[in-house]
Amino acid sequence: MASVAPDHSPYPQLAEAVGTPAYVLDPAAIDAAADSATQAFGEHWIRSYSLKANPLPEVVSRLHARGWGANVVSLGEWEAARRAGVPNAETTMEGIGKTDAELRAAIAAARDGDPLRWVSLETLDEARRFAQLCGPVPLDVLLRINPAVRPETHAGLAVGSAESKFGLRGAELRTLLDTDPFAGTGIRVRGVHVHVGSQLGEVTAWRNGAHAALEALDLVRTKHSGADTVDFGGGFPVLGTPSGPGPSAADFAAVLTEHELPARCAIEPGRALVAEAGALLASVLHVRDLGGTQQVVLDTGMTELIRPALYGARHPVHALTAPDAPVLPTELHGPVCESADRIGHYELPALHRGDLVLIGMAGAYSSALETTYNGRPHAPKVSLDPETGPRVVQDRERLAALRF
Ligand SMILES: Cc1ncc(COP(=O)(O)O)c(C=O)c1O
Repeated sequence: MASVAPDHSPYPQLAEAVGTPAYVLDPAAIDAAADSATQAFGEHWIRSYSLKANPLPEVVSRLHARGWGANVVSLGEWEAARRAGVPNAETTMEGIGKTDAELRAAIAAARDGDPLRWVSLETLDEARRFAQLCGPVPLDVLLRINPAVRPETHAGLAVGSAESKFGLRGAELRTLLDTDPFAGTGIRVRGVHVHVGSQLGEVTAWRNGAHAALEALDLVRTKHSGADTVDFGGGFPVLGTPSGPGPSAADFAAVLTEHELPARCAIEPGRALVAEAGALLASVLHVRDLGGTQQVVLDTGMTELIRPALYGARHPVHALTAPDAPVLPTELHGPVCESADRIGHYELPALHRGDLVLIGMAGAYSSALETTYNGRPHAPKVSLDPETGPRVVQDRERLAALRF
């Protein structure tokens, strides 16, 4: 765990100052994760942070200061990248469902002489539409392939499997190359994009996905000789797998040394850069004895952390009150009116109303997926800034600002 746990000292004061639930971010942990991925692949790699993991401007600008561009999937994420100071030249756009408005915005930026680094296209249909809208405007694209691999992860995160909705199938890619919807436009095919899945438990699917991407690049080059780029996606895991600690960024990078690589290579991780840096500070609301098991309801749940309900994700939980007391079987629940709002089964000391708990590994796909269901305002975000001390970077949403 990062320094957000189990050093309990800042938390009681924090809870007092901003209330709970509250997200807490450790910037030093972001720096460490970013630098270790940079070291694994090398400074010459294009490194894009996938904003979907956590688009908080403080997070994005921190990563940008360490050489990371932005990978965005919508106009909203593009706006978040801009607010964080990431220029278009270091921003890539991808996404399975780009609207005409999004495609047009990318074209308008290029027309204004401020193009995105590239736009990644998902289907033949999308490629045709983009070409139609783009006309003579010069703009780089990557072709996202579906590598038809078996990612070693939760089914909901296995985007590189043959049956997923993501990426061009082999026949689709060949049709695209044969029919060339980009002919007569300013679109330049710069290469291939692949992303096999998130929270990968092994390197095998990544290796097979990389192999498929490099083969696809060879094919693309038969029609577009200037294609010189492969974006290998993200997917590096955090926390151990049942069989071990899980591969590191360096293990994924090592797989690629088996291959001759093109002039430009890119990665676009999200989770591995920010998950460990975040935690969710919560209070116990009430406890019920279920015959030896304590059933605990916290003041945080699926509205702030949907991952356990969405795909059975497991987060470390630390009791901040009497952390060294004997532990009890504990069923931990959230306060939302859904049975799915369950954080999981843990062994924790006897808890009482008002006790504080810290849910770790909540920096990725946590606040990014926050909702206001049940009329619950967005929680505050606090940075444990080593220079200034704890700093609220986003206030708790005011009741008056809630949208119903
Ligand atoms: C295309 C693409 N790239 C990158 C990512 C980031 O994945 P991760 O956070 O697992 O690194 C995702 C996640 O869904 C994705 O779909």
